[in-house]
Amino acid sequence: MLTFSESEYSNRQSAFLGELPDNSLVLIPTNPKSIRSNDTHYPFRANSYMLYLCGWTESDSVWMASNSGGEWTTSLFVLPRDTKSEIWEGRRAGPEGAARDWPVDNAHSIDDLDKLLSPLLEDCNHVFSITGMNSKIDSLLADCGKEIADPKPNLDSLRVIKTDAEIELMSKSAELASQAHIQAMKAGVPGVGEWHLQSVIESCFASNRSQWAYPSIVGGGENAAILHYNSNRDPVGDGDLVLIDAGCEVDGYASDITRTWPVNGRFSDAQREIYELVLKSQIAAIEACQPGARWVAFHEAASRVIAEGLIELGILDCTLDEAIGDPLEFDGPYRNYFMHGTGHFLGLDVHDVGGGRQGDDDPGPVLRPGMIVTVEPGLYFGSWRTDVEIPERYAGIGVRIEDDVLITKDGPVVLTSSCPKEISEMEAIIGQEG
Ligand code: GLY
Ligand code: MN
Ligand code: MN
Repeated sequence: MLTFSESEYSNRQSAFLGELPDNSLVLIPTNPKSIRSNDTHYPFRANSYMLYLCGWTESDSVWMASNSGGEWTTSLFVLPRDTKSEIWEGRRAGPEGAARDWPVDNAHSIDDLDKLLSPLLEDCNHVFSITGMNSKIDSLLADCGKEIADPKPNLDSLRVIKTDAEIELMSKSAELASQAHIQAMKAGVPGVGEWHLQSVIESCFASNRSQWAYPSIVGGGENAAILHYNSNRDPVGDGDLVLIDAGCEVDGYASDITRTWPVNGRFSDAQREIYELVLKSQIAAIEACQPGARWVAFHEAASRVIAEGLIELGILDCTLDEAIGDPLEFDGPYRNYFMHGTGHFLGLDVHDVGGGRQGDDDPGPVLRPGMIVTVEPGLYFGSWRTDVEIPERYAGIGVRIEDDVLITKDGPVVLTSSCPKEISEMEAIIGQEG
């Protein structure tokens, strides 16, 4: 079933194709299937460009558009109906179903791709394709002797601005993830397994016909200071914080939330000092998410607050300018404890397309209404680290706070605002299940 109305997809297709020259051929393959072990596959997820253009979710498929006859014609190449395969692998729409129910002009069996594509490839003047996903297409393109242009920049500039329908869906995704985090807080208790909190979060996703958008990070104690921790196998001790970075996907659209809280329901003084500093920086960064702001503005806002706070807490012994470092790079010693970016675009991909900063000289995109970004500063004091001095008072603490923020003409709107992040709000909830 289509996620959006046909007109939503045809508007996207027209906006994309309208920028391309006459006599073009566009090929967008979906993702390859990938093996987890022996003959067992990872659950298949369609490529986000395929989802964006036509909502097609089956594997082994290609979206094609051609305007060699003047008008654009759009097609899907899909797996043909085959009862024996469908008994094992599930129902297929087949070319007939694809042409009838999906937003394309016609559809064909993927087995006919070579035959139908070859003359089009020969006749067209421009070829746009995403390579590296479909070996058959890659070899046809390699043999055609034409230059292959990348359509992603055109598509990305559309995907980065969300339509009203996308914003509605992403708001649902954000709200579901918020409720899942609240359920996890309620299940907090000294000694709780990281895996148990993961199961609370993910069962909330699954029971709402959703799933994780990325492997959930549930790091207790020192594990909270490992940025991409996701083994989730340790119990969380009395007195420890747990950092949960978990978001869901609703009809392809991701949410991405991080909350950090003490499993015994009470922040220690040292934990509170670090938490309040990260929260203050996150609020400053959200406030900096204004339409017209440069991409780096919200990172600078978060970084400035963090650097000031690290000096006030006696963790850095230097001036603010020294703590921040190069005024363009923000590369000073505060980065020893806040070593990642402050956010990224969010959409069909959790780290969505549309830019961010590509290298030191790139100021990145300007924030515009309809963009959705995450805002997620953190501070990490893993006591095992040998690269930098870890202050004893804060050793073992890791805190990140992450919300999903829609840029509007009137300023930032936090889509994940129903997920508590003030200390008093969280302390009132933690452990309430038991
Ligand atoms: N969950 C991945 C991230 O926060 O970027
Ligand atoms: Mn994120
Ligand atoms: Mn995250």
